[in-house]
Amino acid sequence: MLVRRTKRLLRKIGLLPPLARPAAAPVPAPEVSPVPAPPPKAPPPVRSGGPYVVTAELKAKLHALGVDTLLPPDVRTLPSDSVFEPPCSIKWMDVLGRISIGSFSYGVSGHFNNVTIGRYVSIGEEVQMGRGDHSIAWLSTSPFFYLREDILDVGRDFAEAEAYHAFRPDTTGAAPFVQGRTIVIENDVWVGHRAYIRPGVRIGTGAIVGAHAVVTRDVPPYAVVVGNPARIARYRFDEALIARLLASKWWTLAPWQLEGIDLSRPAESIDLLEGRVAETAPYKPGLVRLSKIV
Ligand SMILES: CC(C)(COP(=O)(O)OP(=O)(O)OC[C@H]1O[C@@H](n2cnc3c(N)ncnc32)[C@H](O)[C@@H]1OP(=O)(O)O)[C@@H](O)C(=O)NCCC(=O)NCCS
Repeated sequence: MLVRRTKRLLRKIGLLPPLARPAAAPVPAPEVSPVPAPPPKAPPPVRSGGPYVVTAELKAKLHALGVDTLLPPDVRTLPSDSVFEPPCSIKWMDVLGRISIGSFSYGVSGHFNNVTIGRYVSIGEEVQMGRGDHSIAWLSTSPFFYLREDILDVGRDFAEAEAYHAFRPDTTGAAPFVQGRTIVIENDVWVGHRAYIRPGVRIGTGAIVGAHAVVTRDVPPYAVVVGNPARIARYRFDEALIARLLASKWWTLAPWQLEGIDLSRPAESIDLLEGRVAETAPYKPGLVRLSKIV
């Protein structure tokens, strides 16, 4: 039990890559639907339950329910509180803490920790969302002073090994530091190759995060951000069109429900788009909760 918790913590602080492990008792987490995204307020730290090993059987179940993963069997895990709105894909994504992902969204690869993703989101390769922080304001950033677990998976044939294995830092009354604030990616966001997104950041609907961008602040809807730290290079559309697109909530519809509208010319199609949304029942496929299917 101790080794398992230690490895989990080591993975959390980035000292170990995720490994397949047996399922642990799930911790109940607040239920959040990926669509619509929650309001823009600082959410409390989220703890993931699970995790569950992604076995061939689990992959097959997810696949049948409209959730695609390309992870090889028995290598990675998923948090038990993962929520999927089909169809969607997590391809080779390495998910450490809770994820919820909306319909028609996919991520190729990288590290994801406590992320809520809306619909029609495209995430490139090796993207980092929600990498944890260490204790920046304390004497030391080293986890040896705040994790009450064995930090290193080592034996007992070195000097002071017994003291090392017995040691548990007493953090009673210690100044807190916040970890794992949820990242919210709204709808129709495109995140480029190797982007890094800080915990707690919200990326607005329609935004683009350029390749290798380091996103430290919220990104407004339909902004294109690039660089380190990310800056707004431009907006995809003018203010009036952005306002109408956001008000339309067009992403509540499935692609086939938008057929016949020229989506390559949004300024010319906005009237039709608004009309279509008004007269069409939203696409509501229901949610796939990992904890319910394992
Ligand atoms: C962000 C992106 C979409 C911008 O496209 P664009 O709006 O056509 O950008 P432009 O080429 O007109 O450049 C606009 C400005 O941003 C800069 N810029 C563009 N992309 C940048 C990037 N990734 N990092 C840093 N600066 C970038 C340009 O140098 C230019 O700066 P300037 O105005 O000072 O000259 C594109 O550059 C990008 O990063 N695409 C991601 C591709 C990718 O990762 N694909 C993987 C598949 S998911």
